[in-house]
Amino acid sequence: MSRRPSELASPTVMRRMSALDSPTSISRRASGTSSRRPSIDPSRLIPIDKATQIGGTTDFNVVFIGAGNIMFGSDEGPWNHSFRFEHKLGPRLKVVALIDPAVERATAVLQKKCETFVRSAYENTRVYKTLEDFVRNMSPRETPRAIIVGSPPMFRGTLQSGRDIETQIMKCFPGVAMFIEKPSATGPASELPEAFAVAKAISESGSICSVGYMLRYLRAVQMMKQIIIENNLTVMATIARYACAYEAIAKPDWWDKSKSAGPIIEQGTHFCDLSRYFGGEVDMSTVNAHSLEWDENAGHLSKMTVDETKIPPENRIPRVTAATWKYDSGAVGSFTHLVALQGHDYSCELEVYADGYQLKLVNPYVQPILYIRRPGSDIEEAHRFPDDDPFFSEISVLIDNIEDIEEDPETATILSTFEDACKTYELTWAIRLSAERNRQAKLDADKAGAAAAKTATA
Ligand SMILES: NC(=O)c1ccc[n+]([C@@H]2O[C@H](COP(=O)([O-])OP(=O)(O)OC[C@H]3O[C@@H](n4cnc5c(N)ncnc54)[C@H](O)[C@@H]3O)[C@@H](O)[C@H]2O)c1
Repeated sequence: MSRRPSELASPTVMRRMSALDSPTSISRRASGTSSRRPSIDPSRLIPIDKATQIGGTTDFNVVFIGAGNIMFGSDEGPWNHSFRFEHKLGPRLKVVALIDPAVERATAVLQKKCETFVRSAYENTRVYKTLEDFVRNMSPRETPRAIIVGSPPMFRGTLQSGRDIETQIMKCFPGVAMFIEKPSATGPASELPEAFAVAKAISESGSICSVGYMLRYLRAVQMMKQIIIENNLTVMATIARYACAYEAIAKPDWWDKSKSAGPIIEQGTHFCDLSRYFGGEVDMSTVNAHSLEWDENAGHLSKMTVDETKIPPENRIPRVTAATWKYDSGAVGSFTHLVALQGHDYSCELEVYADGYQLKLVNPYVQPILYIRRPGSDIEEAHRFPDDDPFFSEISVLIDNIEDIEEDPETATILSTFEDACKTYELTWAIRLSAERNRQAKLDADKAGAAAAKTATA
């Protein structure tokens, strides 16, 4: 049966989405007056194998947009949203549609799922090339409770047709929860206001929307938050370092700034976001950055698995980017991103300083360790968090918010909203633009110097 998008907005459909998406709970979210905790008690972040699936017996319909690595997993990392949904929702999970223009890829991942014990979640999943196709062909019983967006960022975060998936979702499924992968957009910096306009529309709609900055959900990160809150600390500085293992990055688009916007916007974004999570709002006018570029002697890489000669020189990515900035609070932030390591594992650290305290988060992707130095002491305590799974925790918090365990004060709020994610996106663009300006200034100065030397010897 074919239905027009406007039919889907009817009050009956709205009620079916979530019994508790009442006008009051929507307006409470829209006005930001939820009484939920802004952080999570770390003891409530439990490993996936210790978590019990959410209660209830009714089907929980989900639409996945994108059938790629983030949604179904890959060798490149621990991400795999479908796996976390299966664990959180158990037999209630019904993936009603998988939307991806690469129909073969989508069909293949579904077939694999149907060969396993999670078959019941996928046996009736239909594949569509676009959201529009799904809306045109769906039955009311297939109305989703959550739409999970894991398509590449060039298809979202703007107001332009074909790159406006959030707006399409809000139009076709008002009030339905969204999960959007990071970064909030990818396009020229001139489109930043569009991303903020999308954020405003989402916030005014009152729809639950979570963005995939999963490191905020690490137990170690929530322990850092807890120390800061309980001791009423004011952060003085954040120092972040993100060194990726470039040998393991085999996607040609990642190496092409015109496709993925470069390593700060695509990847360093996680640590820019964590820095903001602790440091607060950034004064964008203070952001200053320098880069080591691919064509400088020190920027030569010997183990790239992609053929960089196929990428136009102006689109090749920097090997190192180092930035500093001031937060509105007066605190200072710094971030260095490196495309330098080989092997598989990344080497990433974030230090947060406050009077008497050093909170040092090491290896958050692989095996997080939090080193804490406290006032009046030289001793560094080490805390380890085996089996922590921030990807599961972010999905778990999302589902808890959708099911709305009505104002349980211990239920955390979504830790990364679309608006917050846009501010991280803005910071990453400010870093990239500053590094490019400084590089251009250096090239211009070198050129002027060479010309002056030529004139002098003539
Ligand atoms: N949070 C994390 O740690 C993390 C990890 C990996 C990826 N990601 C993010 O997830 C997103 C997707 O990355 P990926 O690695 O899964 O990419 P991918 O290339 O593996 O998969 C993307 C899929 O989206 C499909 N697609 C393209 N255009 C589409 C459209 N208009 N509508 C629907 N689907 C479309 C592609 O055909 C492909 O199957 C990116 O934003 C990336 O930054 C986040």
